[in-house]
Amino acid sequence: MEKAKIPSHIGIIMDGNGRWAKLRGKERSYGHRAGTANVERITEHVFNSGVKTLSLYAFSSENWARPKAEVDELMRLLELYFKKFLKKMQREKIRITTMGDISVLSERLQKVINNSVALTRDNDRGILNIGINYGGRQEIVRAVNKLIENNQPITVENISANLYSAEFGEPDLIIRTGGEIRLSNFMLYQGAYSELYFTDVLWPDFDEKELDKAIEAYGMRHRRFGKVEES
Ligand code: FPP
Repeated sequence: MEKAKIPSHIGIIMDGNGRWAKLRGKERSYGHRAGTANVERITEHVFNSGVKTLSLYAFSSENWARPKAEVDELMRLLELYFKKFLKKMQREKIRITTMGDISVLSERLQKVINNSVALTRDNDRGILNIGINYGGRQEIVRAVNKLIENNQPITVENISANLYSAEFGEPDLIIRTGGEIRLSNFMLYQGAYSELYFTDVLWPDFDEKELDKAIEAYGMRHRRFGKVEES
């Protein structure tokens, strides 16, 4: 039997925390806490499945418009998660990277993030890439501005080389949970040929089995990258 195709890089838009909490008569932050616990569970399963890179959309450039209490809770969870996860990622030899402008975060959170990135730099079993204050359009503009500053030609390759993901490239598969069918500014440039998988399952309920289903669906797709199918 042919070996199942495993995507080398998966991106996940983790949507539905708020609704998950509402269904239980709780506040949205309760959903974000459950969502954070799920990040832990899914990350482990992703790397155990043979995936090399996992890009997670934790906080978008647009999420600042949410109520302050919710933003504060998300920042608190990020700090907690980075601290807690560092040891685990060290053991598992996973490198932590981020994409997005983290310079606007609190000094304390920046330190925690920078510390995780620095300490895991040489880990080579996989890459956990977390989007924080991240927006795909902003990322493209930033890349183009860098090229202009350095007097380099604006080409597809040069833009790619100046994205946050320059080292590890494009997601083969982008998953969005929570029932919405859109990309919401996630990895727009890198996602040009990504396979897309949408599910109604809310993020805190997206368990190992759901991830396996997404990987299986990916295995059935025929990626042509704009060319005709090979016979
Ligand atoms: C979308 O759900 C989710 C977010 C805006 C935040 C995602 C963050 C986490 C899962 C936790 C932190 C992440 C890490 C990596 C520690 P929503 O609130 O928009 O849900 P709704 O559409 O049901 O309202």
